[in-house]
Amino acid sequence: MVTDVINANELHKADPVFGQLSFDNHEQVVFCNDKDTGLKAIIGIHNTVLGPALGGTRMWNYTNEWEALNDVLRLSRGMTYKSAITGLNLGGGKAVIIGDAKTQKTPELMKKFGEFVHSLSGRYITAEDVGMETADMDLVRQVTPYVTGISEELGGAGNPSPITAYGVFMGMKAAAKFKFGSDVLEDKTVFVQGIGNVGEALVEHLVDEGAKVTIADINQERLEAIRKKYGVTIYGGSDLYSEDMDIYAPCALGATINDDTIYKLKAKVIAGAANNQLAVEEKHGKILQERDIVYAPDFLINAGGIINVYAELEGYDRKEIMRKTENIYNTTLEILSNAKTHNITTNHAALNIAQNRIDIRKKENKR
Ligand SMILES: NC(=O)c1ccc[n+]([C@@H]2O[C@H](COP(=O)([O-])OP(=O)(O)OC[C@H]3O[C@@H](n4cnc5c(N)ncnc54)[C@H](O)[C@@H]3O)[C@@H](O)[C@H]2O)c1
Repeated sequence: MVTDVINANELHKADPVFGQLSFDNHEQVVFCNDKDTGLKAIIGIHNTVLGPALGGTRMWNYTNEWEALNDVLRLSRGMTYKSAITGLNLGGGKAVIIGDAKTQKTPELMKKFGEFVHSLSGRYITAEDVGMETADMDLVRQVTPYVTGISEELGGAGNPSPITAYGVFMGMKAAAKFKFGSDVLEDKTVFVQGIGNVGEALVEHLVDEGAKVTIADINQERLEAIRKKYGVTIYGGSDLYSEDMDIYAPCALGATINDDTIYKLKAKVIAGAANNQLAVEEKHGKILQERDIVYAPDFLINAGGIINVYAELEGYDRKEIMRKTENIYNTTLEILSNAKTHNITTNHAALNIAQNRIDIRKKENKR
């Protein structure tokens, strides 16, 4: 018996996949390994009721395999609900490649990863995420058609980040309307944490509207470049969460709203692009509700990117992409009101609507 050889502290490892906290009835988890290119990747397919599982590939230098597995499980589940709530006929999936994107990413590794994607025959369609660029997706396209986010010359819809940022901006305005009674962000203090592809485009919208923007990032060069370009303030303190601000916009990595940060937060609204901002959804969502901090669910307001890549599959144009993305404003307002009426967390209200759509389709598919 396995338990005979595993020491008591290690017992949880006896259920390394299905027993993970982040495991939520995922349909399929694929572990990919290639000795020649050094590829180590995990593809998570959470749910395909609404359509093929679409979600980006993240390359990250995870400390260990558990971290990578948990990330792919959480991210792929998030994609299911993101597409469902946005009204797209897509399921939820995601992939992670374990390694440093700056030093370990090679064309051979990307093409090998593409071959693994291809082996799933379209059940999973990939795209870009952190550590990936359009050029990487173009390499994947050489070995499989099951990829989006490719360059415009190859028929892609181009970089999704500006569209994602526009959707986040719309969601932020809706949350401001709900909290402050007006969606005008002029003179509102906004902290943008992470000024990468999405963060920068968000900063631009905020500056155009006259918000007082402070930026934070671990990349000093980038901070300087963005400060110069937009005239924003670089955060100089050591604990961003305790700062006075109207709006906190997490645009780096997930789980920044956690046991350590949640009681320090002085923001009145949280609206950002990062996936999985709440470390423990129900628990931290509830604390935000109790603290009267309006949380615009991440998977709802950062859906601009998936709307953009969905256009590649469905062939709709830029005007329709922008219309669908702008509609994030209405959906956010609806969900925030719904949460208040039913005294549930905003995350819960958003999940209910998304799950309802999946349940209805599941019944229809069975007929
Ligand atoms: N790109 C999209 O269209 C899209 C769509 C949906 C969700 N997202 C999510 O939005 C977030 C940002 O995406 P992106 O495409 O801009 O990524 P990116 O890699 O271009 O930018 C991330 C930025 O965050 C910074 N960063 C990393 N760790 C940090 C930390 N601890 N503190 C402060 N800054 C830190 C990085 O230096 C970088 O500048 C990610 O969580 C991503 O999953 C992106």
